[in-house]
Parts: sequence; structure tokens; C-alpha cells
Amino acid sequence: MQARERFLAALRGDALDRPPVWLMRQAGRYLPGYRALRAEHSFWDVCQTPELSTRAALEPLDRYALDAAIVFSDILVIPLALGLGVTFGKGEGPVIARPMRTGADYDAWNIDGVLGRIDYLPRAVAHLKQTLKDRYGILGFAGAPFTLFAYCVEGGGSDDFREARMLMHRDPALARRALNTIADVVADLLLAQVDAGADAVQLFDSWGGLLAPDEYRDFALPALQRITAKLNARKVPTLLFVRGGHHLMPLLGDSGVTGFSLDWRTEWEYARKLYPGHLLQGNIDPVLLLGDAGVIRKRTRDLLETMKRTSGGRHCILNLGHGILPGTPPETVAALVETAAQFS
Ligand code: CP3
Repeated sequence: MQARERFLAALRGDALDRPPVWLMRQAGRYLPGYRALRAEHSFWDVCQTPELSTRAALEPLDRYALDAAIVFSDILVIPLALGLGVTFGKGEGPVIARPMRTGADYDAWNIDGVLGRIDYLPRAVAHLKQTLKDRYGILGFAGAPFTLFAYCVEGGGSDDFREARMLMHRDPALARRALNTIADVVADLLLAQVDAGADAVQLFDSWGGLLAPDEYRDFALPALQRITAKLNARKVPTLLFVRGGHHLMPLLGDSGVTGFSLDWRTEWEYARKLYPGHLLQGNIDPVLLLGDAGVIRKRTRDLLETMKRTSGGRHCILNLGHGILPGTPPETVAALVETAAQFS
């Protein structure tokens, strides 16, 4: 089977030779080619120039037998386009110049024509599609509403996003208004990526796991449902990644997504029992890639065997349980992908 065929078959739940493989953050600082690109161009320039975005997205495909490409971009393109001011400090996380703490801050969001200010992202997808033709699957993506809300309120990275979580309780109406606005932009941005050639889209809820189940149900889920209502009407396959979301798994079926990208702490068989007919993706611990290639090969084979045993390998995509860490040796990534490619 050809890479894209295998990827599309997994999305549909058809029988296939082996589960397809791609890796969260497969393009990034662990690759010398990416670092060379970044030595010449700023991060936002790479995201905002389709030719450069495609070069970054191709780096891992040139090296490894992956089945899908993910467009090179970032979840923070939405707060950037809403006018919050997003920069990346040297070696630190993102910094948001104008965080949203009050209704007046929300009213200052530049919502009019917001999609036009992110048109470089669907253009990057179109450029990637033109380059790859039908050889590889293509994923589009966006941040999930709660995670984007968390960055917008907090003003940057955080261990606990306490400002964002406090705001949900201090002013739930404002939190819901902001979440709905974000959700509508996310839905339109994902559909624009599909129109440009994406075969599926992934929602990154990197901080959703901070919420208690009732908070996730009351705030994060309704915003996700706003998105899946639009995408399901167009039959777009959707994947949801909730980092640290083990305790939320029983709720996530209500989100309306096609499948779940499992955190490394969620047991595959537990998720499969909860969701026998959903697509499941994951979930090797990215920390293992920092160590021994033999350990990675064994862990990969074991997971592929579990996929085969629990669903004949259908509705399965091999991936990590979070993104590849900077400093990961490219050789252990090769060990993972080779093991997947040779599995039958
Ligand atoms: O290869 C790919 O997966 C495609 C590109 C991609 C990036 N960011 C590129 C990037 C994807 C899918 C993302 C998603 C993203 N961005 C998430 C969700 C996934 C996750 O890791 O939980 C989040 C939370 C962000 C926000 C973000 N962007 C942070 C916190 C940072 C700085 C810290 C870090 O991990 O690098 C970024 C910058 C960023 N996004 C880089 C890359 C390659 C590093 C920029 C650089 O220094 O060149």
C-alpha cells in the first residue's frame, strides 16, 4: 500500500497491511535541516511563507518512511490574528503581549476578517499538497478552544494556567463568549485547510488535562461540539489530542470527533474498550526517544501487536503520546519508524 492510501484506509476504518505512522512535532528542532532553516528565517516567517513551511514539513518525510505530513504551522496563529501579539522568546515558551482578563480585553479582539489574516496557513497546505501530490496523507491542525483560551488569558506558557482557570469561574459568561469566538475561528480555519488539500485535521488540546471533568464538560466540550458540528457536516475526519486527558476519556465521546490521539499515560486497551469503533492514535512516550533504540523498537512492536489484537489493526494510527522533544536523536526516531514500516 502507498502511504496516503494507508492513511486514508485507517481514517475510514478499512483493513490495511499495517497501521500508518506519523509523529506529533515530526518537523522541528531535533532535525538539523529544520535548525538550518531557522538559522536563516524567523519562526513566524517560516509559518507565513508557504515555500518555507513546505520545506520544514518535508524534512521528516525525506528522512523517514512516514505515511503522512502535517502542515508546518502553530496553534498560536489564531491569537496572533486576533491581535493579541504573539512572540517566541529565545529558548522559552510563547509570550502574548495583550492577554485577555476582562470584557474590555475581549472587546478589543480583532475578529473582523480574522481568517484573511491567517490565509498563509491554507496556502501552506495547498503548497504542500502541490508538492506531495497524492503520495502522502496530509494533516491540517488547530489548537482546541480551551488550550487557545488558556494561552490568550494566561499570556504565555504556564504549569497550571491559573489565570485562565480562575476566569472560567469568576466570569463564566465571558469565558464562554471567548471560547465560542475561538471555536468559530478554529472551525473556519480547519475547513479552509481541508479545502486546500488536508485529508484530516487534528485538534491539539495540550492543556485540557488541567480541567476537572465537570469543567471540561461545561466549558471545553461545548466549544469542541461547535467545531465538530461544522466539520462533520462536511464529513471531515477529526482527531482530538488531550494531553493528560486520561480522566476525561469517558466524556470525550460527546465531542463528536472521529478519533482520539492518546496521551502516553492512557492505556491503549482502556481507550479501545471505551471506543470500539473510533479511530485511535498514539501513544508512545516521547521521552523513550531520548534513550535506547532497542527499547523503542520493542515498545513499538508491543504497541503494534496490541493494535492488531484489539481491533485487527483497524482504526489505528501509530504515533507518539505527545510531540517529539527537542534534543531527540534522529536515530531513535528512525528506529521507531522502521519498526512500524516493517510490521505486518
Ligand atoms: O511538526 C509538526 O508537528 C508541525 C508543527 C507544529 C508546531 N507546533 C511547530 C512549532 C505543531 C503541530 C505545533 C502545535 C503546538 N504549538 C502545540 C500543540 C502541541 C503540543 O506540543 O502540545 C502547542 C501547545 C504550541 C504552542 C507552542 N509553539 C509552544 C509552546 C512553542 C514553544 C515551545 C516549543 O515547544 O518549541 C511553540 C513554537 C514552535 N511550534 C516550534 C515549532 C517547531 C519551535 C520554534 C522554534 O524555535 O523554531
